[in-house]
Amino acid sequence: MPHQERGSWRSKFGFIMAASGSAIGLGNIVFFSANAYKYGAGAFYLPYLLALILVGIPVMILEFGLGHSTRRAFPQSLGRAVGRTGEFVGWWAILNAGFITMYYITILAWVLGMWVGSFGPLFSEASAALPAFSGVGELKNPMGYFFAMLSGWWPLAAVFVVWGLNVLIVWRGAKSIEGVVRFIVPLMWVMMLVLIVRGLTLDHGEHGILMLFTPNMETLRNVDVWKGAFSQMFFTLSLGFGIMTAYASYLPKKSDQVSNSLMVSFMNCSFEFIAGLAIFSLLFVFVIPPKASTLSMMFFIVPTGIAQFPAAVTLFGVLFFTLLLVAGLSSSVSLVEALISAMIDKFRIARVKILLIFSALGLAGSIVFALPKVIDPGLDSNGTLGLSLLDLIDHWAFSYGLPLVGLVECLLIGWLFPVSKLREFINENANLKLSPIWDWLIKLVIPLLLAVILGYSLYGEIVGGIYGHDMETGSIDGLHLLALGAWLAVTLGGAIILTLAPNRDREDSVTSEVNDASR
Ligand code: TRP
Repeated sequence: MPHQERGSWRSKFGFIMAASGSAIGLGNIVFFSANAYKYGAGAFYLPYLLALILVGIPVMILEFGLGHSTRRAFPQSLGRAVGRTGEFVGWWAILNAGFITMYYITILAWVLGMWVGSFGPLFSEASAALPAFSGVGELKNPMGYFFAMLSGWWPLAAVFVVWGLNVLIVWRGAKSIEGVVRFIVPLMWVMMLVLIVRGLTLDHGEHGILMLFTPNMETLRNVDVWKGAFSQMFFTLSLGFGIMTAYASYLPKKSDQVSNSLMVSFMNCSFEFIAGLAIFSLLFVFVIPPKASTLSMMFFIVPTGIAQFPAAVTLFGVLFFTLLLVAGLSSSVSLVEALISAMIDKFRIARVKILLIFSALGLAGSIVFALPKVIDPGLDSNGTLGLSLLDLIDHWAFSYGLPLVGLVECLLIGWLFPVSKLREFINENANLKLSPIWDWLIKLVIPLLLAVILGYSLYGEIVGGIYGHDMETGSIDGLHLLALGAWLAVTLGGAIILTLAPNRDREDSVTSEVNDASR
């Protein structure tokens, strides 16, 4: 196999669009609002800001710095820094994120289904042709439409389409990604601004804003709020996925990772913030604010709000789902790229070959999450088999996987590399220099915070019954084991195999400056 050139971004703008496009996703538009809503609206900002400053920005600098200094994707980057253990952690992180990508794409497939529905029956009053769920009675649109779709087979076709789009965008790596994100990421901002103007000019829209800014300080005593804010921070900034390292590995020699991190996290959090404004204003279209889980926020609550707009319901419905699709795609492609670039770095295989192999595997996973078999006709929990599995895998990959990667990554780089060397490298090109405080955040503060959060989750798991879920029916308990087993087997087994596989990576002209310095 001839040596392949690693890709590179054509412009700084392209890189910032790609990295912020990865960060800004469904997490910003709906998960944040749902969490803020659940955890006492205004009060959520405090843990959230702390999580951003103490963990989000420092870890992003770390992940960018790793990619930029080693010019390798996450596993090889950690491998070059601290050896085999590092490489193993890198693969484990990417495989864990692979699970997230699979269900994220299934969610995007449902979004596509809702998008198509927006042109037709989704926003019409008629709820005919909905399946009769026992015990639920007649479901009104858009909830009825969603469940009718969920329990039918055609989301499987939508899964194909969304994976197809991912493959197309990642086809030529940084080059094709840049070509797409430089248009769709700005477009995303425009669509969000249109929605916020509409939301705020609705009757009573301002109540939503008041609610978002009225802190309920009581909730700050609830550890779950802190846990929610810290896990959300990893997810929303695309940290612990190996993405930021892969993206930064395509940067030119002279680039400033401190300013890149500040810019990307600022763009991400301001997007999240204005999305919160838009969604909270919409909530007040309802007289009584509904209970909000993340999926219900995206699939019924916001659409039901839109359905009650005085005019242009279809237009805004289509706009909302287009926004979700675009935001989601620019996130999902980033992980596909992180995985493919790691495989190319290690095995020097042709991009298209590995892209097709992994997309086929990913597609199979996404199909599992879209399985329409109804296992809970009363809709007490998740309704279908696919959605129940999604919920369980999310539980492990999101609440445990991401913080665990962050924890181990900080410890390895913090103590073994050591982190002061990386800081010197980053500072060579940085305008705003990192102080040694950053070293201690990475070595001590972040690992401690994450360990407390993980410990607390695990404790809840043990005390609160099987895996923290309270589904009571026996048949679903088997699902818990299945999901946990599959997640562990694939992430651990896969990471071991990939780490032990013979390495075809070799030092090329642009070897790691940091490694050179440490030799
Ligand atoms: N940051 C994204 C969000 O807020 C989540 C995300 C990042 C993601 N990278 C991803 C999801 C890769 C799936 C695959 O929504």
